[in-house]
Order: sequence, then C-alpha cells, then structure tokens
Amino acid sequence: MRVGILTISDRSAAGEREDESGPLLAEFAQSEGWTVVETSVLPDDVGRISGLLKQWSDSAKVDLILTTGGTGFAIRDVTPEATLDVVDRLAPGLTEAMRAQSLKVTPHAMLSRAAAGIRGNTLIVNLPGSPKAAGENLEVIRSVLPHAVQLISADPEAEKSHKV
Ligand code: MTE
Repeated sequence: MRVGILTISDRSAAGEREDESGPLLAEFAQSEGWTVVETSVLPDDVGRISGLLKQWSDSAKVDLILTTGGTGFAIRDVTPEATLDVVDRLAPGLTEAMRAQSLKVTPHAMLSRAAAGIRGNTLIVNLPGSPKAAGENLEVIRSVLPHAVQLISADPEAEKSHKV
C-alpha cells in the first residue's frame, strides 16, 4: 500500500514547531508494512491542501493519504473543507468510528470535524493534529484500511477479506 502523509500546521510549515505527528504516522505506516511514498508539511491553506491532495491522488497514485491537523474549530482549521473539495465519495464510517472510540478517551473528540472520502483510487482520511490524538485515531481504523484500499482499486482478491 502506497501511503502519503500530509501534516497541516501553520507553525510547523513556518519552521516554528517541529512536526512530530507526520513522522509518528510514517513510523506507524511502516510498522504495518505500508510504504510511505510522499510526506509534506503545509500551512492551513485550503487551496494548497486541496492542490496537494489532488496531485498525490492523480499523479503520484497514492493509495492512502493520511492528513494530520487542522480538523478542529479554530478559524484556520480548514483541512475537512479542503478534503471535501476533492473527494468524489464520502467514507463516513471511518470518521464515525474514530469519533466514537475517541469519545471514550476525551469529550474533545466532539470537536473533531475530520472528514474521509475517496478520490479516484485514493482514500483520504483526516486525523487530528497532536501526535497522541493522531495515533489513537489511526489505531481505530488501522485494521480496515488495507481492505478499504483493495475495494477501491477493485482488486478481485478483496472479497476474500470479507471473511471474518
Ligand atoms: N481524539 C483522540 N483519540 N484523542 C485526543 O486527544 N483530541 C481532540 C480531537 N480528537 C483528541 C481526539 C481535540 S482536542 C481536537 S480540537 C480535535 O480532535 C481536532 O484536532 P485538530 O484541530 O488538531 O485537528
């Protein structure tokens, strides 16, 4: 599975804060046997975020894009809007599951506006910004992601994964 990891943070993009979440997600992906083919850090700019999501989906042929950051209620938090601008179909089950599980950890999970959806053959999932929250949320959906990507690419082997 080809994975892209996009950190979205004004401060990290400006070099004012070290990006801890991107490397943590990359490590997580590698430990699952996935291949991290793209990484980047962008400011909270809806046009730049949607542009890179399109590039990674359409040209770089990334199977799974994980974004981290910019999903909250602050005025600069626009990651869900950038994601919704580029996806063809929504994947609400992923965000429902992440929020449901995260509510067991913190009521602040209600403040996540994270979106997930499919653009062509690419699954795009928003995760929160802090390393702890990003890791906790990825852990919730980790086990279904390979099957999700198989289904999107219409791999005939995908049906086998339905068996419990
Ligand atoms: N989910 C989990 N599992 N653990 C957390 O600590 N933090 C929440 C939420 N989801 C959190 C979580 C908080 S405090 C916010 S504001 C939202 O995610 C959005 O985070 P973001 O603005 O960094 O993207």
